Amino acid sequence: MNVLLIGSGGREHALARALARSPRLDTLFVAPGNPGIAEIAQCVEVNVADHPAVVDFCRLMKVEFVVVGPEAPLVAGLVDDLESAGIAAFGPSKAAAQLEGSKGFTKDLARDFDIPTAAYGRFADKASALAYLDAHPAPIVVKADGLAAGKGVIVAMSDAEARAAVETIFSGAFGSAGAEIVIEEFLDGEEASFFALCDGERAVAFASAQDHKRVGDGDTGPNTGGMGAYSPAPIMTEAMNERVMRDIIEPTMRGMKARGAPYKGVLFAGLMIGRDGPKLIEFNARFGDPETQVMLPRLEDDLLPLLLDCARGQLKARSVHLSSQAALTIVHAARGYPEAPEKGSVIRGVEKAAAGPDVLVFHAGTKRAGADLVANGGRVLNITALGANVAEARERAYAAISRIDWPEGFYRRDIGWRAMNAMP
Ligand code: AMP
Ligand code: GLY
Repeated sequence: MNVLLIGSGGREHALARALARSPRLDTLFVAPGNPGIAEIAQCVEVNVADHPAVVDFCRLMKVEFVVVGPEAPLVAGLVDDLESAGIAAFGPSKAAAQLEGSKGFTKDLARDFDIPTAAYGRFADKASALAYLDAHPAPIVVKADGLAAGKGVIVAMSDAEARAAVETIFSGAFGSAGAEIVIEEFLDGEEASFFALCDGERAVAFASAQDHKRVGDGDTGPNTGGMGAYSPAPIMTEAMNERVMRDIIEPTMRGMKARGAPYKGVLFAGLMIGRDGPKLIEFNARFGDPETQVMLPRLEDDLLPLLLDCARGQLKARSVHLSSQAALTIVHAARGYPEAPEKGSVIRGVEKAAAGPDVLVFHAGTKRAGADLVANGGRVLNITALGANVAEARERAYAAISRIDWPEGFYRRDIGWRAMNAMP
């Protein structure tokens, strides 16, 4: 079958690689894709925000299945519009994507369906938010309700910081995403990401991962989309995975059905594993970036029928087969990221890096300028390696990235530190 994948990052390169390996695939189109994806699929110019144009493209090119990578098209209802046109699509409906699109929606769902999460309040005006802060001293977490490109969360260590966050969000710093805010209890523990494939009724555990959100070594500096990741997360033991399925994922599936918005697609749970077990920090309605770049290289099953079964509401798999190997990815970013990444510098040595044992180089923010590969975003390349454990994967990934010749790039030197500490 012909498949259209939406997106252009490292996540989509990893998805494209997995889909391209499927014996059931004829042609893989990617809109818009990137130079790495162009080596394994056909990149096309379709305006993804123009849903009728996407439908027209699918009809013209006989595309039977669309896989949506990023959250924005999900929240905009692309899956609904494709399904209305009779085209199967992987990802939640607009209503179900509220799990990512509105933090308040998710908190209310958690409250109503007994899903463990931080205590919270929802506020649409400044005075009541500030009054809540008077009663709940720092540390406390202030969040813009809507999508704010990962910037709408302030973990306030002082009351002054918390009050300033309320002022900033209500002053319009995040546009309509900040029309409402959630204030919640600060959770202590270790963060992990957990992914489940869902078909509206059933959910199957997919994989776990951990990422590094801060830009600098030792988890310092501003937050980013993620500077590296590894899978599996050592803290996510078999027993913990089962507990997360039972206490968080399954009640969410029931809750979404009860709300009239059954959840289909991949459910990405950001978790805090504390003394009294796993608590939900947030949901995302899509695969993680860069988590996907470490999960999919471990997948032994054919990805295409798995995603298709989710979209069709007929997920048959009882479990997903992952390699026992670990994977680790290092994000190679452009100088200036996350504030103001410099674009246009030339990157050499990608082929040399990719030639290492069990190494995969995913493109995230690159473009071609004549014969050159140049930086075209903040997170530019994801150097991924597999190994018998996180330590071996990490050694291979760092050996590979050292072969890349890109003076204008930088990366963290300590990806995987927590997993290394956890090793016997
Ligand atoms: P989010 O965008 O909701 O994932 O939040 C971004 C980051 O803020 C998370 O990855 C956590 O590190 C942190 N965070 C969010 N909520 C909490 C919380 N209730 N307690 C502690 N840290 C949090
Ligand atoms: N790496 C975190 C995310 O994809 O949201």
